[in-house]
Amino acid sequence: MTITITIGSDSAVADVPPRMFGSFVEHVGRCVYGGIYEPDHPTANADGFRQDVLDLVRELGVTCVRYPGGNFVSNYNWEDGTGPKERRPVRRDLAWHQTETNQVGIDDFHKWSKSAGTEIMLAVNLGTRGLHAALEELEYVNGAPGTALADRRVANGIPEPMDVKMWCIGNEMDGPWQVGHMTPDEYAAAVDKVAHAMKLAESGLELVACGSSSAHMPTFGQWERTVLTKAYDNLDFVSCHAYYYERGASSMQDYLASAEDMKQFIATVAACADEAKAANKGDHDIALSFDEWGVWYSDVWNRQEDEWKAAAGEGLHHEPWPVAPHLLEDIYSAADAVVEGSLMITLLKHCDRVRSASRAQLVNVIAPIMAEPDGGPAWRQTVFYPFAEAARHAKGMVFAPRIDAPVIRTEAYGEVDAVDAVVTWDETSRTGLLLAVNRDVSHAHDLRIDLTALPGVNANAPSDTDASDAHVAIAKAIVLHDDDPHRQNTADEPNAVTPRPLPATLGGDGR
Ligand code: AHR
Repeated sequence: MTITITIGSDSAVADVPPRMFGSFVEHVGRCVYGGIYEPDHPTANADGFRQDVLDLVRELGVTCVRYPGGNFVSNYNWEDGTGPKERRPVRRDLAWHQTETNQVGIDDFHKWSKSAGTEIMLAVNLGTRGLHAALEELEYVNGAPGTALADRRVANGIPEPMDVKMWCIGNEMDGPWQVGHMTPDEYAAAVDKVAHAMKLAESGLELVACGSSSAHMPTFGQWERTVLTKAYDNLDFVSCHAYYYERGASSMQDYLASAEDMKQFIATVAACADEAKAANKGDHDIALSFDEWGVWYSDVWNRQEDEWKAAAGEGLHHEPWPVAPHLLEDIYSAADAVVEGSLMITLLKHCDRVRSASRAQLVNVIAPIMAEPDGGPAWRQTVFYPFAEAARHAKGMVFAPRIDAPVIRTEAYGEVDAVDAVVTWDETSRTGLLLAVNRDVSHAHDLRIDLTALPGVNANAPSDTDASDAHVAIAKAIVLHDDDPHRQNTADEPNAVTPRPLPATLGGDGR
């Protein structure tokens, strides 16, 4: 059946936020060590960073990277990763049960970010530390030379302030797994004080409070209302985290519709932010920072964790503390890429509220980029492609089109549209992007798209008029598809699932 997608004059959402195409580098598994950093790799640059990975990060189009965690940050001393490498301490990381060598820290990540062309979003430790450490870190990272900690940075070879604007105050502090986890009231009091003091130091910061670790936490909603109401004055963002995966052979249809959960999640958190604004008679909106999203087969990690705990047996000192273990190295399928494309569409359609997002994570760990060890190559997972296309082409305004589609039945979300879509349009360069996803597990669909209401598009302009006129044409049309939804890209077959040309035509009438 043919589905019609129509841009209406009322379908503009907001401008595309540059931070929509963020990612996440955590000190977990081989994301940092053996991922972005591997001094012995043939492509390593003078700082020990893999150039092959950097090249793929640029191709992916990442704009902003959250660092250094994640769960890791809640037992991390930021100072450990600064100064001469030979003097940096080796520590145990309780979050992932690994040994942290501290050969990479903020000094180094700052350099990496410059090479990658990405903004840094820094998270501070509210698990084992708090206000004092956060303020010291802020001074070290952003302070102008002339005070003790800024001068320590200068002595460590970084003369200019790093100018990190966006700071996350803790990570998933509601999660019982989090080192130093808190009740809603405890976290509200803590984030209120930290945010207040950080803004005394630098009023231009953009501060992110932890929201619930997922929409399925028992305190979801209550947590957001308590935290945002208490700390409203100094908060700019609240975080959202959501991971999805296929939960068994019969659940593919539900899995393909996962974005319905994300949609509901965004609506609830936005409502809590509005409540907090009203309760404070506030003058600013608290935006959503969807700073962990993507596909994660977290059931595999849970089993792995149980196994090593069982293997460690009774008694002390028997548990392993590996350096850069293989953790969370999910290999993604064609279906996983469809779901991630659908999540990206959802984030863009809600960019009036979601002003920042980080796909989790970047390299090796639940990642679009895999970096083989022992001098091996880096390669693109299936989920690389929807992100890269969106990051490269989504510019200007976002439009949420009207979609006249048949509905499909899902167990988890009831009836949902078979197809979802979003359009971006940059009036200045007169270039646009349509992203569409087929979430129907059993039918293909033809699409008919009506672009005539885009600003500056004149459907009746003859195609031979000059460039300043309002004619539009298709520059490129591609599709990511495989007849086998479980087909994966692998190290041996890295190009099994890649975008292919899609037959599409645009008539002179803009349809
Ligand atoms: O991204 C993996 C983990 O997922 C992060 O460390 C944590 O914040 C979340 O639970």
